Amino acid sequence: MKYSIILFSIFLFPFLFIKGDKASVTKETPVAEVLKKLGDKSITHQVNAGLKGVSVENGKKLFFEGFSESPKGKKSKKQSKHFVCTSCHNTVKEDPNLSISDPQARLEYAADKDIPFLQGTTMYGAVNRTSFYNGDYYKKYGELVNNARNDIREAIQLCAVECAQGRKLKHWEVESILAYLWTLELTMDDLAVSDAEYETLTAAVDNNTNQEKAIDLLTTKYLQGSPATFIAPPENRKAGAANITGNPANGKLVYDLSCKHCHEDERYSFYKLDDTQLSFDHLDKHFSKYSRYSAYQVSRWGTSPTAGKKAYMPQYTKERMSIQQLEDLKSYIKQEAGK
Ligand code: HEC
Ligand code: HEC
Repeated sequence: MKYSIILFSIFLFPFLFIKGDKASVTKETPVAEVLKKLGDKSITHQVNAGLKGVSVENGKKLFFEGFSESPKGKKSKKQSKHFVCTSCHNTVKEDPNLSISDPQARLEYAADKDIPFLQGTTMYGAVNRTSFYNGDYYKKYGELVNNARNDIREAIQLCAVECAQGRKLKHWEVESILAYLWTLELTMDDLAVSDAEYETLTAAVDNNTNQEKAIDLLTTKYLQGSPATFIAPPENRKAGAANITGNPANGKLVYDLSCKHCHEDERYSFYKLDDTQLSFDHLDKHFSKYSRYSAYQVSRWGTSPTAGKKAYMPQYTKERMSIQQLEDLKSYIKQEAGK
Protein backbone atom coordinates (compact mmCIF):
# COMPACT_ATOMS: atom_id res chain seq x y z
CA MET A 1 0.00 0.00 0.00
CA LYS A 2 2.73 2.40 1.08
CA TYR A 3 4.70 1.50 -2.01
CA SER A 4 1.81 2.17 -4.26
CA ILE A 5 1.44 5.64 -2.77
CA ILE A 6 5.12 6.28 -3.31
CA LEU A 7 4.91 4.97 -6.85
CA PHE A 8 1.87 7.13 -7.46
CA SER A 9 3.72 10.19 -6.20
CA ILE A 10 6.75 9.55 -8.31
CA PHE A 11 5.13 8.53 -11.56
CA LEU A 12 1.62 9.80 -11.73
CA PHE A 13 1.63 12.92 -9.65
CA PRO A 14 3.66 14.92 -12.21
CA PHE A 15 1.25 13.86 -14.94
CA LEU A 16 -1.60 15.51 -13.12
CA PHE A 17 0.25 18.78 -13.56
CA ILE A 18 1.10 18.15 -17.18
CA LYS A 19 -2.58 17.59 -17.85
CA GLY A 20 -3.33 20.76 -15.90
CA ASP A 21 -0.91 22.67 -18.14
CA LYS A 22 -2.79 21.74 -21.25
CA ALA A 23 -5.37 24.43 -20.70
CA SER A 24 -7.88 25.03 -23.45
CA VAL A 25 -6.52 28.55 -23.99
CA THR A 26 -2.72 28.83 -24.13
CA LYS A 27 -0.32 31.24 -25.77
CA GLU A 28 -0.19 28.99 -28.83
CA THR A 29 -3.94 28.83 -29.34
CA PRO A 30 -5.15 30.69 -32.43
CA VAL A 31 -7.39 33.61 -31.49
CA ALA A 32 -10.01 32.51 -34.04
CA GLU A 33 -10.19 29.09 -32.40
CA VAL A 34 -10.84 30.62 -28.99
CA LEU A 35 -13.61 32.77 -30.46
CA LYS A 36 -15.14 29.76 -32.16
CA LYS A 37 -15.12 27.78 -28.93
CA LEU A 38 -16.87 30.71 -27.29
CA GLY A 39 -19.61 30.53 -29.88
CA ASP A 40 -18.64 33.65 -31.82
CA LYS A 41 -19.82 33.66 -35.44
CA SER A 42 -18.21 36.81 -36.81
CA ILE A 43 -15.51 35.11 -38.88
CA THR A 44 -16.99 33.34 -41.87
CA HIS A 45 -14.13 33.36 -44.36
CA GLN A 46 -12.82 29.83 -44.00
CA VAL A 47 -10.93 28.56 -47.05
CA ASN A 48 -12.67 26.50 -49.70
CA ALA A 49 -9.79 24.04 -49.89
CA GLY A 50 -11.74 21.61 -52.08
CA LEU A 51 -11.38 23.85 -55.12
CA LYS A 52 -8.78 22.66 -57.62
CA GLY A 53 -5.48 24.55 -57.55
CA VAL A 54 -5.95 25.96 -54.06
CA SER A 55 -2.89 25.81 -51.82
CA VAL A 56 -1.02 27.89 -49.27
CA GLU A 57 2.05 27.61 -51.46
CA ASN A 58 0.27 29.10 -54.47
CA GLY A 59 -1.16 31.86 -52.32
CA LYS A 60 2.23 32.76 -50.93
CA LYS A 61 3.79 32.80 -54.37
CA LEU A 62 1.03 35.03 -55.70
CA PHE A 63 1.48 37.37 -52.77
CA PHE A 64 5.26 37.68 -53.08
CA GLU A 65 5.80 37.19 -56.80
CA GLY A 66 2.48 37.84 -58.50
CA PHE A 67 2.10 34.44 -60.16
CA SER A 68 1.87 30.78 -59.20
CA GLU A 69 0.97 27.45 -60.74
CA SER A 70 -2.44 27.07 -62.35
CA PRO A 71 -4.55 23.92 -61.80
CA LYS A 72 -3.32 22.79 -65.23
CA GLY A 73 0.24 22.90 -63.95
CA LYS A 74 1.26 25.97 -65.92
CA LYS A 75 2.79 29.20 -64.68
CA SER A 76 -0.13 31.58 -64.25
CA LYS A 77 -0.21 35.00 -65.87
CA LYS A 78 1.38 37.71 -63.75
CA GLN A 79 -1.28 39.45 -61.67
CA SER A 80 0.15 42.95 -62.06
CA LYS A 81 2.89 44.47 -64.18
CA HIS A 82 3.53 47.16 -61.62
CA PHE A 83 3.35 45.72 -58.14
CA VAL A 84 3.29 42.65 -55.97
CA CYS A 85 1.26 42.51 -52.77
CA THR A 86 4.41 43.03 -50.69
CA SER A 87 5.00 46.40 -52.40
CA CYS A 88 2.46 47.82 -49.97
CA HIS A 89 1.82 45.21 -47.26
CA ASN A 90 3.95 43.52 -44.64
CA THR A 91 3.28 39.87 -43.80
CA VAL A 92 4.57 39.99 -40.24
CA LYS A 93 3.37 41.71 -37.10
CA GLU A 94 4.02 45.46 -37.45
CA ASP A 95 2.43 46.95 -34.31
CA PRO A 96 3.78 46.30 -30.83
CA ASN A 97 0.27 46.60 -29.38
CA LEU A 98 -2.47 45.24 -31.62
CA SER A 99 -5.26 47.09 -29.87
CA ILE A 100 -4.20 50.52 -31.15
CA SER A 101 -3.06 51.96 -34.45
CA ASP A 102 -0.15 54.20 -33.51
CA PRO A 103 2.11 55.20 -36.42
CA GLN A 104 5.04 56.25 -34.22
CA ALA A 105 5.01 53.01 -32.23
CA ARG A 106 4.81 51.18 -35.59
CA LEU A 107 7.72 53.13 -37.09
CA GLU A 108 9.96 52.36 -34.13
CA TYR A 109 8.88 48.73 -34.18
CA ALA A 110 9.59 48.55 -37.93
CA ALA A 111 13.06 50.03 -37.42
CA ASP A 112 13.72 47.51 -34.67
CA LYS A 113 12.53 44.53 -36.75
CA ASP A 114 13.94 45.83 -40.03
CA ILE A 115 10.64 45.74 -41.89
CA PRO A 116 9.18 48.48 -44.12
CA PHE A 117 6.68 51.14 -43.00
CA LEU A 118 3.94 51.17 -45.62
CA GLN A 119 0.59 52.58 -46.74
CA GLY A 120 -1.22 49.23 -46.62
CA THR A 121 -1.82 47.43 -43.33
CA THR A 122 0.05 44.21 -42.62
CA MET A 123 -1.62 40.97 -43.64
CA TYR A 124 -0.54 39.50 -40.33
CA GLY A 125 -3.83 38.96 -38.55
CA ALA A 126 -5.89 40.08 -41.57
CA VAL A 127 -8.08 36.96 -41.33
CA ASN A 128 -8.91 37.94 -37.76
CA ARG A 129 -10.38 41.27 -38.87
CA THR A 130 -14.06 41.62 -39.56
CA SER A 131 -14.00 44.78 -41.67
CA PHE A 132 -11.76 46.06 -44.44
CA TYR A 133 -11.14 49.31 -46.31
CA ASN A 134 -12.44 51.15 -43.31
CA GLY A 135 -12.98 54.80 -42.58
CA ASP A 136 -12.35 57.12 -45.51
CA TYR A 137 -11.53 54.49 -48.14
CA TYR A 138 -15.06 54.79 -49.51
CA LYS A 139 -14.04 58.30 -50.62
CA LYS A 140 -11.41 56.78 -52.84
CA TYR A 141 -13.08 53.63 -54.11
CA GLY A 142 -16.76 54.56 -53.72
CA GLU A 143 -19.26 51.76 -54.28
CA LEU A 144 -16.49 49.17 -54.62
CA VAL A 145 -15.88 49.40 -50.90
CA ASN A 146 -19.42 48.28 -50.07
CA ASN A 147 -18.75 44.68 -51.07
CA ALA A 148 -15.27 44.62 -49.58
CA ARG A 149 -16.16 46.07 -46.18
CA ASN A 150 -17.30 42.83 -44.67
CA ASP A 151 -15.86 40.32 -47.07
CA ILE A 152 -12.15 39.52 -47.13
CA ARG A 153 -12.41 37.80 -50.53
CA GLU A 154 -13.85 40.95 -52.06
CA ALA A 155 -11.14 42.96 -50.27
CA ILE A 156 -8.42 40.82 -51.84
CA GLN A 157 -10.02 41.17 -55.26
CA LEU A 158 -10.51 44.93 -54.90
CA CYS A 159 -6.89 45.32 -53.94
CA ALA A 160 -5.62 43.19 -56.81
CA VAL A 161 -7.46 45.32 -59.36
CA GLU A 162 -7.48 48.79 -57.80
CA CYS A 163 -4.41 48.89 -55.56
CA ALA A 164 -2.11 46.63 -57.56
CA GLN A 165 -3.58 47.84 -60.89
CA GLY A 166 -3.63 44.35 -62.30
CA ARG A 167 -5.97 41.69 -63.56
CA LYS A 168 -8.82 40.15 -61.61
CA LEU A 169 -7.82 37.07 -59.64
CA LYS A 170 -9.28 33.69 -60.54
CA HIS A 171 -11.42 31.92 -57.99
CA TRP A 172 -8.64 29.44 -57.05
CA GLU A 173 -6.18 32.32 -56.73
CA VAL A 174 -8.36 34.20 -54.25
CA GLU A 175 -8.82 31.02 -52.20
CA SER A 176 -5.07 30.35 -52.32
CA ILE A 177 -4.26 33.85 -51.08
CA LEU A 178 -6.86 33.39 -48.37
CA ALA A 179 -5.28 30.04 -47.44
CA TYR A 180 -1.92 31.78 -47.20
CA LEU A 181 -3.40 34.57 -45.07
CA TRP A 182 -4.72 31.95 -42.65
CA THR A 183 -1.10 30.97 -41.98
CA LEU A 184 -0.67 34.55 -40.70
CA GLU A 185 -3.54 34.41 -38.21
CA LEU A 186 -3.15 35.78 -34.69
CA THR A 187 -2.40 33.50 -31.79
CA MET A 188 -3.04 34.39 -28.16
CA ASP A 189 0.65 35.16 -27.73
CA ASP A 190 0.28 38.19 -30.03
CA LEU A 191 -2.14 39.80 -27.58
CA ALA A 192 -1.48 41.47 -24.27
CA VAL A 193 -3.52 39.11 -22.07
CA SER A 194 -2.83 38.89 -18.35
CA ASP A 195 -2.75 35.65 -16.37
CA ALA A 196 -6.05 36.53 -14.74
CA GLU A 197 -7.58 37.11 -18.18
CA TYR A 198 -6.29 33.73 -19.39
CA GLU A 199 -8.14 32.20 -16.48
CA THR A 200 -11.32 34.06 -17.33
CA LEU A 201 -11.11 32.96 -20.98
CA THR A 202 -10.27 29.36 -20.08
CA ALA A 203 -13.16 29.18 -17.65
CA ALA A 204 -15.55 30.56 -20.25
CA VAL A 205 -14.40 28.00 -22.82
CA ASP A 206 -14.38 25.03 -20.45
CA ASN A 207 -17.59 25.75 -18.60
CA ASN A 208 -19.61 27.42 -21.35
CA THR A 209 -20.32 30.33 -19.06
CA ASN A 210 -19.97 34.10 -19.52
CA GLN A 211 -19.14 33.57 -23.15
CA GLU A 212 -20.36 36.96 -24.34
CA LYS A 213 -18.17 38.70 -21.78
CA ALA A 214 -15.20 36.57 -22.78
CA ILE A 215 -15.72 37.45 -26.45
CA ASP A 216 -15.90 41.14 -25.53
CA LEU A 217 -12.71 40.82 -23.52
CA LEU A 218 -10.83 39.05 -26.28
CA THR A 219 -11.91 41.43 -29.02
CA THR A 220 -10.67 44.47 -27.11
CA LYS A 221 -7.17 43.02 -27.37
CA TYR A 222 -6.77 43.66 -31.10
CA LEU A 223 -8.36 45.92 -33.69
CA GLN A 224 -11.22 44.35 -35.63
CA GLY A 225 -10.38 46.54 -38.58
CA SER A 226 -7.62 48.90 -39.60
CA PRO A 227 -8.79 52.51 -39.19
CA ALA A 228 -8.22 54.97 -42.04
CA THR A 229 -8.50 58.75 -41.96
CA PHE A 230 -7.56 60.78 -45.03
CA ILE A 231 -5.91 64.10 -44.28
CA ALA A 232 -4.70 66.97 -46.41
CA PRO A 233 -1.21 68.47 -46.48
CA PRO A 234 -0.81 71.50 -44.19
CA GLU A 235 -2.79 74.59 -45.17
CA ASN A 236 0.39 76.57 -45.53
CA ARG A 237 2.95 74.27 -47.12
CA LYS A 238 5.81 76.72 -46.69
CA ALA A 239 5.25 77.07 -42.96
CA GLY A 240 4.39 73.40 -42.53
CA ALA A 241 2.04 71.93 -39.93
CA ALA A 242 1.22 74.43 -37.19
CA ASN A 243 3.08 74.09 -33.90
CA ILE A 244 5.12 71.09 -34.95
CA THR A 245 8.89 70.96 -35.08
CA GLY A 246 10.34 68.23 -37.25
CA ASN A 247 12.75 65.67 -35.84
CA PRO A 248 15.25 64.75 -38.58
CA ALA A 249 16.36 61.49 -36.91
CA ASN A 250 12.79 60.23 -36.99
CA GLY A 251 12.40 61.55 -40.52
CA LYS A 252 15.32 59.41 -41.61
CA LEU A 253 13.39 56.34 -40.47
CA VAL A 254 10.42 57.38 -42.61
CA TYR A 255 12.68 57.93 -45.60
CA ASP A 256 14.59 54.67 -45.22
CA LEU A 257 11.72 52.37 -44.28
CA SER A 258 9.04 53.87 -46.47
CA CYS A 259 10.10 56.05 -49.40
CA LYS A 260 13.14 53.94 -50.25
CA HIS A 261 11.15 50.69 -50.10
CA CYS A 262 9.55 51.65 -53.41
CA HIS A 263 11.83 54.27 -54.90
CA GLU A 264 15.34 52.94 -54.30
CA ASP A 265 16.76 51.44 -57.50
CA GLU A 266 13.44 52.39 -59.15
CA ARG A 267 11.94 49.30 -57.56
CA TYR A 268 8.27 50.12 -58.15
CA SER A 269 8.61 53.59 -59.59
CA PHE A 270 10.64 55.36 -62.25
CA TYR A 271 11.22 58.17 -59.79
CA LYS A 272 14.49 57.21 -58.14
CA LEU A 273 15.24 58.07 -54.52
CA ASP A 274 18.35 57.11 -52.59
CA ASP A 275 20.95 58.71 -50.30
CA THR A 276 22.54 60.84 -53.00
CA GLN A 277 22.62 64.63 -52.90
CA LEU A 278 20.55 64.61 -56.09
CA SER A 279 17.61 62.89 -54.35
CA PHE A 280 17.65 65.12 -51.29
CA ASP A 281 18.04 68.31 -53.30
CA HIS A 282 15.19 67.40 -55.63
CA LEU A 283 12.84 66.45 -52.81
CA ASP A 284 13.78 69.53 -50.80
CA LYS A 285 13.21 71.89 -53.71
CA HIS A 286 9.69 70.58 -54.30
CA PHE A 287 8.56 69.54 -50.82
CA SER A 288 6.43 72.61 -50.07
CA LYS A 289 5.43 73.48 -53.62
CA TYR A 290 2.28 72.75 -55.56
CA SER A 291 4.14 70.34 -57.79
CA ARG A 292 3.92 66.69 -58.80
CA TYR A 293 7.23 66.17 -56.97
CA SER A 294 6.02 67.61 -53.68
CA ALA A 295 6.31 65.04 -50.88
CA TYR A 296 3.43 66.83 -49.11
CA GLN A 297 1.31 66.38 -52.20
CA VAL A 298 2.10 62.72 -52.93
CA SER A 299 2.07 61.56 -49.30
CA ARG A 300 -1.39 62.89 -48.55
CA TRP A 301 -3.13 62.68 -51.92
CA GLY A 302 -1.11 59.92 -53.54
CA THR A 303 -0.81 59.97 -57.31
CA SER A 304 -3.41 58.66 -59.74
CA PRO A 305 -2.99 55.78 -62.15
CA THR A 306 -3.58 56.93 -65.72
CA ALA A 307 -4.30 54.93 -68.85
CA GLY A 308 -0.72 55.10 -70.08
CA LYS A 309 0.92 54.89 -66.68
CA LYS A 310 -0.77 52.63 -64.21
CA ALA A 311 1.87 52.64 -61.50
CA TYR A 312 0.75 55.16 -58.93
CA MET A 313 1.61 56.04 -55.37
CA PRO A 314 -0.93 55.19 -52.65
CA GLN A 315 -1.55 57.94 -50.13
CA TYR A 316 -0.71 57.67 -46.45
CA THR A 317 -3.64 57.99 -44.08
CA LYS A 318 -3.17 59.69 -40.73
CA GLU A 319 -2.89 56.22 -39.17
CA ARG A 320 -0.15 55.14 -41.58
CA MET A 321 1.93 58.35 -41.29
CA SER A 322 1.26 60.98 -38.67
CA ILE A 323 1.39 64.75 -39.24
CA GLN A 324 4.46 64.80 -37.03
CA GLN A 325 6.18 62.10 -39.07
CA LEU A 326 5.67 63.98 -42.33
CA GLU A 327 7.22 67.08 -40.74
CA ASP A 328 10.05 64.86 -39.49
CA LEU A 329 10.63 63.70 -43.05
CA LYS A 330 10.66 67.29 -44.25
CA SER A 331 13.27 68.28 -41.66
CA TYR A 332 15.45 65.28 -42.54
CA ILE A 333 15.32 66.13 -46.26
CA LYS A 334 16.16 69.76 -45.48
CA GLN A 335 19.07 68.74 -43.28
CA GLU A 336 20.51 66.40 -45.92
CA ALA A 337 19.95 68.87 -48.76
CA GLY A 338 21.81 71.53 -46.82
CA LYS A 339 24.97 69.44 -46.55
C1 HEC B 1 0.10 49.78 -54.40
C2 HEC B 1 -0.17 49.33 -53.06
C3 HEC B 1 -0.91 48.04 -52.81
C4 HEC B 1 -0.74 46.84 -53.44
C5 HEC B 1 0.19 46.48 -54.57
C6 HEC B 1 -1.64 45.90 -52.80
N1 HEC B 1 -2.33 46.54 -51.81
FE1 HEC B 1 -3.73 45.69 -50.60
N2 HEC B 1 -4.12 47.54 -49.79
C7 HEC B 1 -3.43 48.70 -50.05
C8 HEC B 1 -4.00 49.78 -49.30
C9 HEC B 1 -3.50 51.21 -49.27
C10 HEC B 1 -5.10 49.23 -48.60
C11 HEC B 1 -6.09 50.02 -47.72
C12 HEC B 1 -6.41 49.51 -46.38
C13 HEC B 1 -5.25 49.17 -45.50
O1 HEC B 1 -4.56 48.16 -45.77
O2 HEC B 1 -5.00 49.88 -44.53
C14 HEC B 1 -5.13 47.82 -48.93
C15 HEC B 1 -6.02 46.89 -48.40
C16 HEC B 1 -5.97 45.53 -48.56
C17 HEC B 1 -6.79 44.58 -47.85
C18 HEC B 1 -7.76 44.94 -46.76
C19 HEC B 1 -6.98 45.18 -45.50
C20 HEC B 1 -7.72 45.86 -44.39
O3 HEC B 1 -7.50 45.47 -43.23
O4 HEC B 1 -8.50 46.79 -44.64
C21 HEC B 1 -6.45 43.33 -48.29
C22 HEC B 1 -7.01 42.00 -47.81
C23 HEC B 1 -5.42 43.50 -49.29
N3 HEC B 1 -5.16 44.85 -49.43
C24 HEC B 1 -4.81 42.48 -49.99
C25 HEC B 1 -3.90 42.68 -51.02
C26 HEC B 1 -3.42 41.62 -51.88
C27 HEC B 1 -3.77 40.16 -51.75
C28 HEC B 1 -2.58 42.20 -52.78
C29 HEC B 1 -1.85 41.57 -53.93
C30 HEC B 1 -2.66 40.92 -54.92
C31 HEC B 1 -2.54 43.63 -52.47
N4 HEC B 1 -3.35 43.88 -51.40
C32 HEC B 1 -1.77 44.56 -53.15
C33 HEC B 1 -2.36 48.82 -50.91
C34 HEC B 1 -1.91 47.84 -51.77
C1 HEC C 1 4.25 51.60 -52.11
C2 HEC C 1 5.31 52.18 -52.89
C3 HEC C 1 5.67 53.62 -52.66
C4 HEC C 1 6.04 54.22 -51.48
C5 HEC C 1 6.15 53.59 -50.10
C6 HEC C 1 6.37 55.59 -51.80
N1 HEC C 1 6.16 55.81 -53.14
FE1 HEC C 1 6.40 57.56 -54.11
N2 HEC C 1 5.63 56.74 -55.79
C7 HEC C 1 5.37 55.41 -55.99
C8 HEC C 1 4.93 55.18 -57.34
C9 HEC C 1 4.57 53.85 -57.97
C10 HEC C 1 4.91 56.47 -57.98
C11 HEC C 1 4.43 56.76 -59.40
C12 HEC C 1 5.40 57.48 -60.24
C13 HEC C 1 6.31 56.68 -61.12
O1 HEC C 1 6.32 55.47 -61.16
O2 HEC C 1 7.07 57.35 -61.85
C14 HEC C 1 5.37 57.41 -56.97
C15 HEC C 1 5.53 58.77 -57.18
C16 HEC C 1 6.20 59.63 -56.32
C17 HEC C 1 6.54 61.02 -56.64
C18 HEC C 1 6.18 61.76 -57.93
C19 HEC C 1 7.13 61.36 -59.01
C20 HEC C 1 6.70 61.82 -60.38
O3 HEC C 1 7.41 61.44 -61.33
O4 HEC C 1 5.69 62.50 -60.50
C21 HEC C 1 7.21 61.51 -55.56
C22 HEC C 1 7.78 62.91 -55.39
C23 HEC C 1 7.29 60.45 -54.58
N3 HEC C 1 6.67 59.33 -55.08
C24 HEC C 1 7.88 60.57 -53.34
C25 HEC C 1 7.77 59.63 -52.33
C26 HEC C 1 8.18 59.86 -50.96
C27 HEC C 1 8.81 61.12 -50.43
C28 HEC C 1 7.86 58.73 -50.27
C29 HEC C 1 8.02 58.47 -48.79
C30 HEC C 1 7.24 59.30 -47.93
C31 HEC C 1 7.27 57.80 -51.21
N4 HEC C 1 7.24 58.37 -52.44
C32 HEC C 1 6.81 56.52 -50.87
C33 HEC C 1 5.47 54.42 -55.03
C34 HEC C 1 5.75 54.63 -53.70
